[in-house]
Parts: sequence; structure tokens; C-alpha cells
Amino acid sequence: VAEIWVTGAQGMLGRALCRALERHDLAHIATGREVDVSDEKAVAAHARRRPWTHILNCAAFTAVDEAERREADAERVNALGAQHLARVAAEHDARLLHVSTDYVFDGQSPHAYRENDATAPLNAYGRSKLAGERAVLETHPAGARIVRTSWLFGPDSRGHFVATMLRLMHERRELDVVGDQHGRPTYAPDLADAILRLAGLTEASPAPAGIYHFANRGACSWHRFATGILEAGKAHDLPLVTESIREVTTSAFPRPAARPARSVLDTSRIEAVLGSVPRPWSETLHDYLRAVA
Ligand SMILES: NC(=O)c1ccc[n+]([C@@H]2O[C@H](COP(=O)([O-])OP(=O)(O)OC[C@H]3O[C@@H](n4cnc5c(N)ncnc54)[C@H](OP(=O)(O)O)[C@@H]3O)[C@@H](O)[C@H]2O)c1
Repeated sequence: VAEIWVTGAQGMLGRALCRALERHDLAHIATGREVDVSDEKAVAAHARRRPWTHILNCAAFTAVDEAERREADAERVNALGAQHLARVAAEHDARLLHVSTDYVFDGQSPHAYRENDATAPLNAYGRSKLAGERAVLETHPAGARIVRTSWLFGPDSRGHFVATMLRLMHERRELDVVGDQHGRPTYAPDLADAILRLAGLTEASPAPAGIYHFANRGACSWHRFATGILEAGKAHDLPLVTESIREVTTSAFPRPAARPARSVLDTSRIEAVLGSVPRPWSETLHDYLRAVA
């Protein structure tokens, strides 16, 4: 019988993952801040409570700009925390599902990124996540699956791009949105389903260990994404007042952390392993709007 532990369960992905587990009648233990993953003793103590077979790590320091001045804090959660979980997973011979990011890449490639392409993070958050990947692969090479994802949004958070855009679209006739950063939006519930499949929880067997990329279908700029959000919002009869979305460059919105210009993930490995292709992000927007209605 599966003994499943979800860390960071109060976060956007953590909540989506717990709901997906419930939908599949998979009992699990969800922990939030009370089990601080950066605290080795706390992780070891919680690990002793059950004969874990699966550890699904959704805990992370995700404030990208904040990480520039708090790099040590980001490292503690994203690198050390990942290592602690990998260690207890190895001790239990449990499968570890760890989540990482497109920000491990510098975004200079004209091609979509494959799993073994060279990494070169541009910011502190990306460095801390890359250190986490390395710690996981070193500590539990045979039992870890790392899923890199990008531009995450979902019904369990108001802190992402889609929610921000919709809020502004209720208020402003004109919006300025960056058009020179490209990526692939990802709907957290779709990622959650993919994680359960990779872990072998909703499939007969787990995917081979290693790194996978998952994102919804369709690379776009933030500007194109915003246009899609406006269209979807209008289709759902939201009282949006935005009439035009101006395309601006990254330099119009200076931020502490540099972002990759083109961190488009190639998802062919996960498509081959799972035998299915991620849905277009435009389709997932409708699910999102129904979920938050
Ligand atoms: N959001 C994106 O666009 C995006 C893109 C690519 C990859 N990812 C990756 O996807 C994963 C899930 O991200 P998310 O968007 O769901 O992030 P999130 O909403 O910020 O969730 C992360 C959760 O981890 C918790 N946490 C932070 N430090 C912790 C600690 N020391 N011990 C235990 N829990 C701790 C957070 O609690 P508090 O809220 O109390 O801090 C939060 O509930 C992360 O690995 C992230 O790096 C995200």
C-alpha cells in the first residue's frame, strides 16, 4: 500500500496535488510549514512516522525577486530542503518527486530546452533550484523524478500572472505587458496529474528516474498570454474593461532578478513516457475560470 507524503502542501501546486490525490482516493499526509524541509531534524523526525513509499516535494522558496537579497534563505529551502527529502527517500527506498523550474536555463537558446541541455541560471532563485536538482540526483539517483515546469498558475493561488492580469483587467482600459519573454504557461492541476502518473500512483508503473519537463502546450510571450486571458475572461462574461494590451519590453518593468528571455521547455520526453501530449494553455484557462467562478 502507498504511503504518500506531500510537502509544501499549502502552496499552489501542493494544493492541486492533494486534490488530485483525493480524486484518485489515494490517502496521503500533507505537511506545510510545520515540517520545515530546511530543518534536517524535523524532516528526519517526520520521516520516521511512516514507512513512506512516495515523497512529493512541493515545498519551495518561490519569491524570485526576493531571492536576490535572500539567496541563503532560498538555498536553505530549495537546495538543502531538497537534499534532506532525498536522503530520507533513499533511506526508505521511497520514490521522490521533486519539482524544479525553467529558470535553471539562461533563455538564450532559440530552441526549446531538452532535459539534458546545459543549465545556466540567471538569478539566485534559479541557482538555488539547480542546486536542489543536483542534490536530489546525487543523493537518490535511482529513486528520484525531477519535473521542471514553467509559468505556473492555478485555482489555489492569487499570486500568479493570470490572477494579476484578471484583477487589472477589471480596473484598467489599457495594460502594458512584456512581449520579449517567451515560455510555456502551465496549469497546476495538469502538472499535478502528470506528477501522479510519473510517480506510478495512477499508472501501473513509475516513469524511469531522472529529469522531465512538463508545461502546457503552446509557447508564447507574456503579452500573448495576457491577450489569451482577456479573450477567455470575456468568453466567461467577466466584466473586464481592458480594451488594449500594449506590448512592451522587459526594460519597461525593471525587477531585481533577471528573467530568461526564452525559457521554452521541450516536453517530448514526458510525452513519450506517458503517451499523451499536454493540453493547450488556452484550454486550461477555461478550466481555471470555471474553478474560480
Ligand atoms: N510558480 C511558478 O511559476 C513556478 C514556475 C516553475 C517552477 N515552479 C516550482 O513549482 C513548485 C511549486 O511552486 P508553487 O508555485 O506551488 O509555490 P508556492 O505556492 O510558493 O508553494 C510553495 C510552498 O512551500 C512552502 N514552504 C516554503 N518554505 C518552506 C519550508 N522551509 N518548509 C516547508 N514548506 C515551505 C510555502 O509556504 P509559505 O507560503 O508559507 O512560504 C508554500 O506553501 C516549486 O518547486 C517551484 O519552484 C513554480
